[in-house]
Amino acid sequence: MKPLVAPSILSADFSRLGEAVRLIDQVPADWVHIDVMDGLFVPNLTFGPKVVTDLRPYSAKTFDVHLMVEHPESLVDQFVEAGADYLTFHIESVVHAHRLVEHIHNRGKKAGISLVPSTSLSAIEELLPFIDLVLIMTVNPGFGGQRFISSMLKKIEALAELRKKEGLSFFISVDGGINHETAPLVLEAGANVLITGSAFFTAPDPAEFVEDLKSLLMYDRKV
Ligand code: DX5
Ligand code: ZN
Repeated sequence: MKPLVAPSILSADFSRLGEAVRLIDQVPADWVHIDVMDGLFVPNLTFGPKVVTDLRPYSAKTFDVHLMVEHPESLVDQFVEAGADYLTFHIESVVHAHRLVEHIHNRGKKAGISLVPSTSLSAIEELLPFIDLVLIMTVNPGFGGQRFISSMLKKIEALAELRKKEGLSFFISVDGGINHETAPLVLEAGANVLITGSAFFTAPDPAEFVEDLKSLLMYDRKV
C-alpha cells in the first residue's frame, strides 16, 4: 500500500484558492487538507465553512478538514454541510471527545483526533477503537513552513505499535514540516497519511513531488 498524500491549502495563495484545489485535484494526491484556525486555539485565522462550500466544486477528492479551533462541536455541522469528508478536531479543545466522534459518525462522516506536540498519546488511548484517523502534529499548529520536530517520531512509532497491538486500522496522519527528508522517517515510524503544505506549493513540479512521496513506500515500515 502506498501512503496517502494530502496537500494543505494553508500554503496556497488565498486569493486563488479554487486554483489551488484544482491543482491538488490534477496531481496524484489523495486528499485536500483544509486547516481551519480560529485565532484562539492557534494564533492565526483561516477558513470558515463558506470557503469550504465554495471550494467543494473544484475537486471530488476527499476534503480532510483539520479544526484548530476552540469548541469544535459548535462548528462541525457547518463543515459537514459545506462538504467535509474527514473532520479532525484537537483533543486539547474538547472534554466530551467521544460524544463528538459519535456525532460526526452519525452525520455520516469520518472522525479524526489530533494532538499538539506537547500532548501525550495517553490522552487519546480510550478513543482509538472509535476513530478513523489520528493526526500527529509534527510542528506546533498555527502556521505553515515550520521545522519538523523530530522527537515526534517516537510518538508515531508508539501509536503504530498500539494500533497493531489492538488490531485497529485508523490512519496515522502527520502534519507539519513534511518534505523529501522527513517523509521517509515518518513512514518508517508507521504514518500512512502525509500532509504537506509549503513543500507541495513550492515544489517546481508538484505532481512529481507527490509521486516521489507516494513511491517512498519502498521503505521498511513497521506496520
Ligand atoms: C499547521 C497546519 C498544517 C500546515 C502544514 O498548523 O496544520 O497543515 O499546513 O504546513 P507545512 O507542510 O508547510 O509544515
Ligand atoms: Zn493541518
